Order: sequence, then C-alpha cells, then structure tokens
Amino acid sequence: MLPSQVKIVEVGPRDGLQNESQIIALSAKLQLIAELANAGLKHIEAGSFVSPKWVPQMADSLTLFQQLTKQSGVVYSALTPNMQGLEAALTANVDEVAIFGAASETFSLRNINCSIAESLQRFEPVIEKASAAGLKVRGYVSCVLGCPYEGEISPDKVAQVTQQMLTMGCYEVSLGDTVGVGTPVKTAQLLEKLMNHISVDKLAVHFHDTYGQALANILIALQHGISVIDSSVAGLGGCPYAKGAAGNVATEDVIYMLNGMGIETGVDLAKLVNAGQHIMAQLGRSSQSKVAQAMSST
Ligand code: HMG
Ligand code: MG
Repeated sequence: MLPSQVKIVEVGPRDGLQNESQIIALSAKLQLIAELANAGLKHIEAGSFVSPKWVPQMADSLTLFQQLTKQSGVVYSALTPNMQGLEAALTANVDEVAIFGAASETFSLRNINCSIAESLQRFEPVIEKASAAGLKVRGYVSCVLGCPYEGEISPDKVAQVTQQMLTMGCYEVSLGDTVGVGTPVKTAQLLEKLMNHISVDKLAVHFHDTYGQALANILIALQHGISVIDSSVAGLGGCPYAKGAAGNVATEDVIYMLNGMGIETGVDLAKLVNAGQHIMAQLGRSSQSKVAQAMSST
C-alpha cells in the first residue's frame, strides 16, 4: 500500500545549515529558500528559534523571516524549543512551528539541556500558545533508531514520546534517525510497533544518511504507508549535538526515487538540483546528492 502522493518537508535551510561552521550570508539563505519554493516544495523549515550561543548559525532566523518573500501555498516553519523561542517565532510571523524532543535521555540533555520528561513539560505551554495563535505544531523525536551517546534505543520509548507529543496537540510527529544508524529491518520493526497504536497519517520520517541507509529506510516507510518525508537539498546538514552525523537524505535523491515509483510530489527535479548547486557553490563544497552529481555531469 504505497501512498500515491508524498509531501516533502524540506529541512535544508534549518537542519542543513545549522551545522555549518562558516557564516552564511542571510542573502544566500533567502535565495536558497526562494529557489526551493520555486522548485515546488510546499513545506520549508526555514529557521530555528534556539539559543544563539548553542546554534550560532540560526541566530538570524528572526531577520530571515522578516525579509522572506513568501510564496502562496508554501508553509515556512521553524523550530521552537521553549516559550522564548515561540515568542520569537510569533514575532517573526512563521506559518508553523515544531517542538523537538528525543527518545534518548542523554541526547535530550545534550541537545536541549533537560530530561525527556522536563522537555515534554516545556512543550506543553508552547503547543497551547501556538495553537491558540492558530499555528499548527509539528513534533520531532530524535534518536528513534539509535543514539550517539546511548547506542540502542528501545522502540517502546520512541512510541511513548511520540504518543505523548500527539496527545499534547502535535498534528504529526517526525521520527528522527539523528545519527543515521538505522537499517531497513529495524525501521520496519519500529514502524510496526508505532503503528499498533498510532495512525500512519500522524507519522513522518527524518533520516540522516551517515551510513547510506536513508533511501532504503524511506522505501520501507513508504511501504508502511508513510507519506511525509523530511529531506535536505544537496544532503546538507547534521545535528551539532550528534557528532559525526551526516546530513539528511538529499531531497534530490528522494524525488528521483519517488519519480521512479510514479509517486507525485509536485517538485521539479531540475530546478531543485539548481537550488542545491547554488548553495553548495556558496559553501565551497560539492553536493552530497548522487542524483545532483549525476545530473550535473551529463
Ligand atoms: P538553556 O540554557 O537550558 O535555556 O537552553 P535557559 O532557559 O536556561 O536560558 C539560558 C540562556 O539561553 C538565556 O540567555 C536565554 O535568554 C537563552 P542568557 O541570559 O544566558 O544570555 N535562551 C534563548 N535564546 C534564544 N532563543 C531561545 C532561548 N531559550 C533560552 N529559544 C535551549 C535551552 C533549548 C534554548 C538550548 O539548549 C538550545 O538552544 N539548544 C539548541 C538545540 C538545537 O537547536 N539543536 C539542533 C536542532 S535539533 C535537531 O537537529 C534534530 C532534528 O533535526 C531531528 C533529528 O535529526 O533527530 C530536529
Ligand atoms: Mg535532523
């Protein structure tokens, strides 16, 4: 039961760029976001309202949103870990926010400086206030297939945190393989466990591609009926609190695979490849996307 349509959540401007050590000009970020929208992406995670001491690269998110030319039909979202982040996001007039927690205690402490239970307590008023302001709230659970500090993570813990976020009001939870250690059979086992209690339309997948397993895992997710996939143009990214983790699966590679399966995304692959080439030229590196490499060399 493959889905006939898939929604891509493009996380390149946030997850992709948050880990870059070099300063990226605001104009380059704005150009990237505009080109992603022009390529047909309908959900773009454009920034993050977190501590600038923790993630300096996202410190310009308020200015970015203020200068953004929004295209109609495109949702521009941002991460908001606490009330301070939500207040900034409301000032920035974001379209949607996301809270982010983890299924690993140690990762939670390293990433957002509190335990899982404390994080869920913090998210509650964020979700309430965002909802009251008419904003939808997405949830992320990190380390669903393994943790850089704890190793194995119990699927029961993933299920528990996911369920709590949904009960608290998130419309969808994105399952993060933060370090990209997951393999297809493990992915299937996790999804089957979650789908015992959670409707598949409440789940999205977010694979980093450290071990080159992301596309295989995405295929498994599609076969389980999941129709929302997070990805990052050019395979940019990584989490600053997950050392060694590579970028997200490249959006170009996901679109190519979905095109090959006859699954509709509304994304123009050639325009997307161009958007990726432009930001990689700014960064002075080559794209991580195999599809972009192949299409650029022909
Ligand atoms: P904290 O230090 O516990 O916060 O950090 P605090 O409330 O004690 O405040 C301490 C200072 O931080 C204060 O400033 C606050 O104003 C400031 P000071 O008085 O010292 O100058 N502060 C803030 N500043 C701006 N925006 C805010 C904010 N909150 C407090 N929202 C906090 C807690 C969560 C803020 C911190 O740990 C943080 O910013 N962490 C960054 C986490 C992050 O962005 N990680 C990367 C994204 S998650 C990810 O990549 C995974 C994902 O992709 C899924 C996956 O792959 O698995 C989503
Ligand atoms: Mg991520």
